[in-house]
Amino acid sequence: MDFKLTEEQRMIKQAAKDFAVSECLPGVIERDNEQRFPTEQIQKMGELGFMGMMVDPKYNGSGLDTLSYVLAMEEISKIDASCSVAMSVNNSLVCWGLETYGTEEQKEKYLKPLASGEKLGAFCLSEPEAGSDATSQRTTAEDKGDYYLLNGTKNWITNGNSASIYLVIAQTNPEKGHHGINALIVEKGMEGFEVGPKEDKLGIRGSDTHSLMFTDVKVPKENRIGEDGFGFKFAMKTLSGGRIGIAAQALGIAAGAYELALKYAQERKAFGKEIMRHQAIAFKLADMHTNIEAARMLVYKAALDKDNHESYDLSGAMAKLKASQVAMETTIEAVQIHGGYGYVKEYHVERLMRDAKITQIYEGTSEIQKIVISRAIADS
Ligand code: CAA
Repeated sequence: MDFKLTEEQRMIKQAAKDFAVSECLPGVIERDNEQRFPTEQIQKMGELGFMGMMVDPKYNGSGLDTLSYVLAMEEISKIDASCSVAMSVNNSLVCWGLETYGTEEQKEKYLKPLASGEKLGAFCLSEPEAGSDATSQRTTAEDKGDYYLLNGTKNWITNGNSASIYLVIAQTNPEKGHHGINALIVEKGMEGFEVGPKEDKLGIRGSDTHSLMFTDVKVPKENRIGEDGFGFKFAMKTLSGGRIGIAAQALGIAAGAYELALKYAQERKAFGKEIMRHQAIAFKLADMHTNIEAARMLVYKAALDKDNHESYDLSGAMAKLKASQVAMETTIEAVQIHGGYGYVKEYHVERLMRDAKITQIYEGTSEIQKIVISRAIADS
């Protein structure tokens, strides 16, 4: 494995870092307090090519590899995980899903504005009673000849209100179980489609998470992705790549908290010297640094697997499991190192600690990653 970055990858990492510091950092605390979506930041990310990073330039994408995407995710997540989750869903779930499985017409109509950042996408799988157990879809897409009649409710949808293009997973033939599920492209403004209330969340509070309601929404047949009954496989394959993006987000949150804690420990004095010179603090930072580096290796490995057209179900799940665990542990320690300052908003680490938790929950909980990993090793 060669993790030596190319000149282009180093430039992308630097560009993402510069963008995060100059555009995402100002106002991050206020957006978190007010639960305000980073509209301007996401628009600028589109202009810079961050919203369709891996998409072919002929569909308005940046044509970059997964490792470049991971590097950008990491840098933006160090500063604002609400910006990076919008970026991650648009890139790895919506754009990747459409580019890989969409028809030419779907790519022209939907992928192009998503990859350029002109429009934002959302991925709608979770339901009030189908989170981890994703095969239990209650939302129905009844086949009516030249359209599907969509009915049901989706929960916890990232970019729920800010998106305008939604990939919705729904059951068409319940007697076929998960082989009867379809993935449909739904546009905001279609009659019968309503955005529900916003969730009041612990973390990633700038990200808008909503429930969605569909009542007799007529979705044209040409908006189905793949063959009839491909919807569940579509969701699983898309989520496998999505997990690499969220692993990179978790890595960024951990690295951001570590950098703040290190700087604080180098400056803050107690008992006559910088707290970094006290072994109790120095050992914490040594652990944090080592754990982050270990998580980084797993995240980059998963990205390289995808770039090398090797299976990344296992490496992506391992990367997400480890990086999210490291994000949680590191942010808790970063708050501890800051003492009382860590508990107030101005110092950022309490926000990073709250943001870290979701990386152990969305795009498959840690327990789901362990299911994926244990099944893969059992069959090896
Ligand atoms: N690639 C392709 N196919 C896959 C697959 C993959 N990675 N994983 C499973 N499948 C296929 C299986 O091959 C099987 O197909 P066949 O019957 O044709 O063989 C089918 O899917 C069902 O597989 P399982 O029997 O393994 O299904 P299961 O019910 O035991 O569950 C699971 C598998 C891994 C637990 C899955 O349900 C899962 O991943 N659940 C978590 C869902 C999730 O991540 N939700 C997150 C919501 S999206 C989100 O959070 C986005 C956001 O807003 C940030």
